[in-house]
Amino acid sequence: MPMDEYSAANLAQWDERVDIHYRSDFYGVERFKAGETTLEPLEREEMGSVEGKSLLHLQCHFGMDTLSWAREGADVTGLDFSPLAIEAARKLSNESGVPGRFVESELYDAPEALDANFDVVYTGLGALCWLPDIRGWVQIVGHFLKPGGVFYILEGHPIMWALDDDTPEEPMHIRWPYFETDQPQNPEGWDDDETYSGTGEKMQNTRSYNWGHGLGEIVTALIDVGLKIEFLHEHKTCAWRAYPWMVKGDDDLWRVPNHPDRLPLMWSLRAVKEA
Ligand SMILES: C[S@@+](CC[C@H](N)C(=O)[O-])C[C@H]1O[C@@H](n2cnc3c(N)ncnc32)[C@H](O)[C@@H]1O
Repeated sequence: MPMDEYSAANLAQWDERVDIHYRSDFYGVERFKAGETTLEPLEREEMGSVEGKSLLHLQCHFGMDTLSWAREGADVTGLDFSPLAIEAARKLSNESGVPGRFVESELYDAPEALDANFDVVYTGLGALCWLPDIRGWVQIVGHFLKPGGVFYILEGHPIMWALDDDTPEEPMHIRWPYFETDQPQNPEGWDDDETYSGTGEKMQNTRSYNWGHGLGEIVTALIDVGLKIEFLHEHKTCAWRAYPWMVKGDDDLWRVPNHPDRLPLMWSLRAVKEA
């Protein structure tokens, strides 16, 4: 399918991010090579054992989470639309000695690029905001899952994504649509010359586009594609400092200061494809 102007801009930026991220302390490639996992304790616990299972990671970036699942015993495949991310993922697999297969494909075209199905389909943090159509995404999840297979996701909460970045502290303001619309949340695009990795390096491809998807829209779409939801958890913590006002706890997770009960920051869900 020809790529629209929004996804083309996002792809150019993701390609450029790869090298910056690969060298960043934020991602910690050397720590990974030394044996560290990049998975959150929460997702390892909630996913359960992946030992001996085939696992597809959608939107895998350069494969750190994918290969971390391999270290947990899974036979992993990572998929991403960025050719530079896929190249870097293969390099990381070779250099770390952790086996993994990596496939370059636009998410919605994935069935044309990958002829297989899996015991587990996984999506990690910071993935859904890049996708315009959540119902199209669940079709892909359902397509790749074997009957009885498990889908697991840990993501930033849609209400957190809808907040105004420029709000320094409480009261926080909603700036972007919470629900999916036929335009990106920011039809003019975000302009940012640095990535969230905090290296300070400048990017040429400054423009990107995100989409909101309400939690009800996401969960209902998963049910409609034949998934049986085991749990949906909303979390008061965030795995990264998504906004400057967040405060870090002893567990290395970030929170809303003073009133952590006011706002969910991440959500996670485990579901099984009915046989
Ligand atoms: C923040 S990363 C998520 C991976 C992982 N949680 C991480 O933090 O490294 C988002 C990934 O989505 C990929 N992506 C964005 N839009 C995509 C699309 N339409 N099809 C396939 N991959 C896409 C990007 O290339 C990027 O690697």
